[in-house]
Amino acid sequence: MYALVTGADHGVGLALAGQLAERGYFVTACRFDEKETAIDELAAAHPGQMQVLNLNIGDDESVRLMAQTVTASTPCLDLLINNAGILGDMTRTVGDDLDFDEMLGVINVNALGTLRVTNALASHVCRSTQKMIVNISSEAGSIQDCWREGWFGYCLSKSANNMQGALVQNALKKQGVLVLQIHPGHVATYMRGHLDTTASVTPEESAAGILRTALDTPHELSCPPAYLDFQGNVLRY
Ligand SMILES: NC(=O)c1ccc[n+]([C@@H]2O[C@H](COP(=O)([O-])OP(=O)(O)OC[C@H]3O[C@@H](n4cnc5c(N)ncnc54)[C@H](OP(=O)(O)O)[C@@H]3O)[C@@H](O)[C@H]2O)c1
Repeated sequence: MYALVTGADHGVGLALAGQLAERGYFVTACRFDEKETAIDELAAAHPGQMQVLNLNIGDDESVRLMAQTVTASTPCLDLLINNAGILGDMTRTVGDDLDFDEMLGVINVNALGTLRVTNALASHVCRSTQKMIVNISSEAGSIQDCWREGWFGYCLSKSANNMQGALVQNALKKQGVLVLQIHPGHVATYMRGHLDTTASVTPEESAAGILRTALDTPHELSCPPAYLDFQGNVLRY
C-alpha cells in the first residue's frame, strides 16, 4: 500500500508518516523545509518504507516535480493526505489594517496548494484500489459553526479547502475515489511559531485518530464528502 503525506516536517504530518509506516504503508513524506531532519530520522528507522521529498505546495513547479518523482517511483497512490498548512494572522479584525497579500498567501497554500497536489496526483490515486484522499481541514473552515472575528486568511482558506474537497469528490466519484475532510483537533504543534501549550491533543494522538477515522471506519462515498474530526465526530459545513 502506498501513501503520501504533505507537510511531514513535524507536527501532525510527521506523526502521520510514522504511523502509516507502522501500518505497513510505503510512505512518501513531503517536507517543506530541507533543514528539518526529523523526517530523515523517521525514514532511517523504517528502511525501505519511506522516501522523503522536498515540496512547496504553494508552487506549481515544486508540485509538478514531486508528482513526476512519485509516479515514477510508485505503482499507485492508495492514500493521499493533504496535511500541509499555515496559520497566518490571528489578531486583526474588520476595520483593522488587514493585509490582503498575506491572506492570499495563506489561501494559496491551504486551499490552492491542496488542490494543486490533488490535481497532480489524482490519476495516480485512480490507479489504486483504496483510492482515498484525506484533506486535513479544520473546524475553522465551518461557516455554520463560525465563532471567530478574525483569522481571515486561515478561516477563508479552510472553507475553500472544504469546497475544493467537495468539487474533487463530485468529479472523482465515478472512479470510486473517496474524499474526507478531517479536523485534526486542537493539536500541540508549532503552527503558531511556538509550541501551542493550550492544545489538549498531541500530534501522535491526532494522527492515530485521523487514521482510525479514515482507514478503520467504513465510509459511504458521499457528496459533499464527510467532514469529520479526528475522533470521527461529524462537523457541520
Ligand atoms: N494544530 C492545530 O491545532 C490544528 C487545528 C486545526 C487544523 N490544523 C491543520 O493541521 C495541519 C497540520 O498542522 P500542524 O498543527 O501539524 O502544524 P505544523 O507543525 O506547522 O505543520 C504544518 C506543516 O506544513 C508545512 N508547510 C508549511 N507551508 C508549506 C508549503 N507551502 N508547502 C508544503 N508544506 C508546507 C510545514 O512546514 P514548516 O513548518 O517546516 O514550514 C509543516 O511541516 C494543517 O493543515 C493545519 O491547518 C491544525
